[in-house]
Amino acid sequence: MNTTETPAAPQFPKWVGPVIFGLTAGIIVVLALLAISIMERRWEAQRPALVLKPIAQWEPNNAVWGQNYPREYESYLRTRETGTRSKFGGGPPRNYLNADPLQVILFAGYPFSKEYNQARGHYYSVTDVSSTKRVNAKTPGTCWTCKSTDVPKKMAELGVDNFYKQHFADLKSAITHPIGCQDCHDPATMNLRITRPALREAFAAQGRKIGDATHQEMRSLVCAQCHVEYYFRDKYYLAFPWDQGKGLTVEDFIAYYDERDFTDYVHAVSKAPMLKAQHPDFELYSQGVHAYRGVSCADCHMPYRSEGGVKFTDHHVQSPLLNIANSCAVCHRWSEDEIRHRVETIQTKVLATKAEAERALVQAHFDIAAAAQAGVADADLAAARKLIRHAQFRWDFISAANGAGFHAPQEATRILADAINEAQQVRLDIARRLAAKGISATPKYPDVSTREKADAVMKAFEASQKVELL
Ligand code: HEC
Ligand code: HEC
Ligand code: HEC
Ligand code: HEC
Repeated sequence: MNTTETPAAPQFPKWVGPVIFGLTAGIIVVLALLAISIMERRWEAQRPALVLKPIAQWEPNNAVWGQNYPREYESYLRTRETGTRSKFGGGPPRNYLNADPLQVILFAGYPFSKEYNQARGHYYSVTDVSSTKRVNAKTPGTCWTCKSTDVPKKMAELGVDNFYKQHFADLKSAITHPIGCQDCHDPATMNLRITRPALREAFAAQGRKIGDATHQEMRSLVCAQCHVEYYFRDKYYLAFPWDQGKGLTVEDFIAYYDERDFTDYVHAVSKAPMLKAQHPDFELYSQGVHAYRGVSCADCHMPYRSEGGVKFTDHHVQSPLLNIANSCAVCHRWSEDEIRHRVETIQTKVLATKAEAERALVQAHFDIAAAAQAGVADADLAAARKLIRHAQFRWDFISAANGAGFHAPQEATRILADAINEAQQVRLDIARRLAAKGISATPKYPDVSTREKADAVMKAFEASQKVELL
């Protein structure tokens, strides 16, 4: 019988155990120190500056804020770049009237028919409002509201009502800093905040409180201080057409303006009481799938950026198509080309529908003028004039909003479809009234295919107040 003896466990000298223990402990300590050091460096790098200097309550100077937050400031400064354009937007300001001369007719009787350029970066807000031909001796101080970080300070000094009541020119020397930090941030905490009273008042008008907004909502509401539809109540007081129990759709706004008999201008050709839409970016966005899914303006226009391992908010507010990798592509795993192509396809379709609406509207203005010329009484034209007011506001709600309909493509197309329908109803109404009187007054629709031709048509009409008939 074989007996197998279990071999004895190897014997190590007594000192080996404590030495291994000691070595392991030493390595752990070294690793821990390394980790702490890395974390400290990260933390140091993330800290905006060595010591944060206190920023005064109404500090308007972006450079002063920039000393504490250089990354945000430097990226903000890039809003002065105007070199890169996308297919329909981007840096360089376009001249809308040259690109789309039908607008010379649509805004006839209003300064927008003389000058209307696409917006550019926040850096230019003061320069651009100072040089626009649409400002004149009667322009109220209100027009500064959305242009400068000096505004909150001036409002605190003068009172809001009194600020609006100033002459535009009288505030000029006090307002020099373009849109910036003060407009969106509380200097003590850097929390997002609303500095413009009109948005607060609009919330209150709807029985809501801005203070209840979530952090994610604030990432859009800071923009909604300025990128919205508004009007001057009593010719000077900045107000949004938001009402108790109503929403932010174009129908809500038309009802609001009609109830108050508010009119921006009388159309030079049709003599209709017109409304000019501003730039209802927030409202249109609110109707789209991104708002529905809680994606904010900042998610697309101020995405996160990394620099030397530090993540911060890119303050170069611009077209996201110039920064697809950091904005859209974070959520949509399509290639950059696919994303750009998808956006351009959506925009092209919206713009095609928009162009149809413009043609119908221009014809409708001339139809009304021809009917008036043929002796149809104003009372009989009132319905058509009211309808063209609504039709053109719908068109303008999409045309004046930024982004060529991308923010809510279905809603944009729905509204434009309504505009076309209403413009054609105007034409039908006029044709019926003329037929009832046995008059033929079909206008010879003028050629307005270039800016020069459109300007010449308006010049001739203003001189003669007559439409050429077929
Ligand atoms: C899902 C992403 C997304 C969201 C959310 C979004 N936008 Fe946009 N925005 C775009 C795209 C895409 C364009 C089209 C840019 C182009 O044509 O170059 C655009 C265009 C614009 C433009 C014109 C820029 C230009 O260069 O022509 C402005 C202004 C704008 N958006 C403001 C806003 C505001 C204000 C909000 C929130 C109320 C908002 N956007 C929400 C994607 C977004
Ligand atoms: C149009 C509004 C707007 C303006 C103007 C603006 N910011 Fe911001 N800022 C934001 C938004 C939105 C965020 C993201 C905040 C969040 O989600 O908590 C942000 C975040 C920040 C943060 C937090 C850290 C980070 O990067 O996310 C700092 C610091 C900051 N901004 C500094 C500045 C400075 C400095 C200026 C002026 C040069 C400035 N901001 C101008 C909207 C603005
Ligand atoms: C204090 C008012 C104000 C606030 C707040 C504001 N904007 Fe603007 N924004 C403007 C004005 C005014 C312009 C046009 C400046 C010019 O053309 O001189 C503009 C221009 C822009 C442009 C460039 C438009 C173009 O066609 O190139 C974009 C993009 C934009 N804003 C997006 C935003 C977003 C997104 C927010 C919020 C994070 C925001 N803005 C907050 C007033 C504001
Ligand atoms: C924070 C995330 C987020 C960002 C950033 C974002 N999207 Fe979206 N996008 C969504 C969500 C969520 C939907 C809804 C559909 C879904 O759930 O997939 C959506 C839907 C879409 C759709 C389909 C629209 C429809 O009507 O069905 C398009 C197109 C789109 N996004 C384009 C873009 C573009 C272009 C950008 C950048 C300018 C962008 N998105 C940025 C989250 C995002």
